[in-house]
Amino acid sequence: MIKGQNYEKKGSLLYLCVNFMKECSNKVSESVFSALLETLLGGESPGREGWRMLLSGLDESQAARVRDAASAVVRDRFGGGVYVRGLIEISSYCRNNCYYCGLRRSNRHASRYRLTTDDVLGCCREGARLGFGTFVLQGGEDEEQDDDWMEATVRAIHAEFPAQAITLSVGERSREAYRRFREAGADRYLLRHETRNDAHYACLHPAEMSGAHRRDCLRALKELGYQVGAGMMVGSPGQTVDHLLDDIAFLEELRPEMIGMGPFVPAAHTPFARHAAGSVDLTLRLIALMRLRFPDALIPATTALATLDGRGREAGLRAGANVVMPNLSPAAVRGQYSIYDGKASWGSEAAEGLRLLEQELNRMGCHIAYGRGDYPGRDGGPK
Ligand code: 5AD
Ligand code: SF4
Repeated sequence: MIKGQNYEKKGSLLYLCVNFMKECSNKVSESVFSALLETLLGGESPGREGWRMLLSGLDESQAARVRDAASAVVRDRFGGGVYVRGLIEISSYCRNNCYYCGLRRSNRHASRYRLTTDDVLGCCREGARLGFGTFVLQGGEDEEQDDDWMEATVRAIHAEFPAQAITLSVGERSREAYRRFREAGADRYLLRHETRNDAHYACLHPAEMSGAHRRDCLRALKELGYQVGAGMMVGSPGQTVDHLLDDIAFLEELRPEMIGMGPFVPAAHTPFARHAAGSVDLTLRLIALMRLRFPDALIPATTALATLDGRGREAGLRAGANVVMPNLSPAAVRGQYSIYDGKASWGSEAAEGLRLLEQELNRMGCHIAYGRGDYPGRDGGPK
């Protein structure tokens, strides 16, 4: 039974249909399953119907074997090393109004702050002291932190920390702005496409935003030589398996160096506050499948996964993820960057918790890989 839906009432037509569909879809034979895995391990795409079977047709034992195969691939490529990125949440102001996000501009309950360049540099100093090789500057689309501010801030970080990589995650900007940030020293850019399906995109965003524009930004970033991160929320309101198949097709076309996928987590005071959360299992399945398709990709075990499940981060790493992003934001504002409810930012989700994290990783036979952690392959992986 799929959680959070209201077709649990036994005997209802919907109940019978859903179970019939589940019966039909849970029928990937062992020989087809092996062929699908071999296709992926051989560097080929299983195609839309193959992906459909892998996403919604496996039994628990097959799903576990997908995770194990992904885990073997990531270990083979990265030798048990997990990259850490120091996450600095630079502003909780946002001009956008995405229906799912606690920072949306219409949310009058959200607490707002923005860091100054000096604040950000202070975080970087602490991050460098702790051993981080990458700083991630993430924020809402804050009009005060405009292109000039971003460029100057990146330049200041790069001047003081030339050995560290700089990742930006500050939304949709002009190509010219992206060019200036790159020239100032930015190496990577995270911009989730959220969903490749335009009708679904319109369910999640107001009319002034478009999936096409988001994708144009991603392509511009690629052309400018950034290592680019795309990705989607899993179980976002209205999402179907076909939407996820569209997402996978888009990832196969874009070939991003980084793929960020986390379950949808409801956020208070948003239109989707009462919507069910996304599935942790499906998120893990997607992480494993994307690892198999993009062996060199940088795939985080996301905070959303850790937020929904106390062992979510570990499970993500066991399913093929190889990046974690401990929170390096100033203690005084941490917790105010509330894109969804209950967001984990302390313990081993915190930068100060690196030792906890190391212990957690060691128990899994992994370790923290210090260093920049650039994409090891060439331009986004398999064609
Ligand atoms: N649940 C899960 N992820 C969310 N994001 C925004 N709101 C939510 C939510 N309620 C994700 C989006 C965005 C990233 C920064 O956080 O995918 O791109
Ligand atoms: Fe702003 Fe990003 Fe939240 Fe959308 S998801 S409202 S762009 S912070």
